[in-house]
Amino acid sequence: MKDIQNFDDVKLLVDSFYSKIREDALLRNIFNSVIRDRWNSHLEKMYKFWQTVLLDEPTYIGNPFLPHAKLPLNETQFNQWLVLFNETVDQHFRGEKADRMKWQGKRMAEMFLSKIEYYKNSNSVPLK
Ligand code: HEM
Repeated sequence: MKDIQNFDDVKLLVDSFYSKIREDALLRNIFNSVIRDRWNSHLEKMYKFWQTVLLDEPTYIGNPFLPHAKLPLNETQFNQWLVLFNETVDQHFRGEKADRMKWQGKRMAEMFLSKIEYYKNSNSVPLK
């Protein structure tokens, strides 16, 4: 099995990950309620995000946390997100970038969860 090498690899990963998400009983409704008929643009954005992280080709501009700030998410949902995410990477690739992708997913899931918890318990509004 080869490592993640180019944009087509990133696209394959993102497409297969969000296909799983869209069928997952725990997660599909949260995603669909926000994204509705904008799945294509969400996927395009996620190609760019992972292209920037994994291939050092900086095409993503934005604030990854902001759209999650007010979502009603808890640890169970983030754990499920990570199960599907790691499963997707392992199904397709092996190597340094595949490991980096899983590490980055875990790191961001932990960071998002702790920020969400923080904003639940405070009146302040996330700016970034
Ligand atoms: C259960 C966990 C999660 C849920 C329900 C969730 C849901 C969403 C939703 C609804 C959007 C906004 C789509 C839109 O309005 O266009 C979004 C955007 C995004 N998500 Fe997540 N997400 C989760 C976890 C994560 C994690 C762990 C990462 C880390 C890689 C991540 C990365 C992103 C990025 C980069 C965007 C685009 C941000 C932008 O608008 O620039 N998400 N997510």
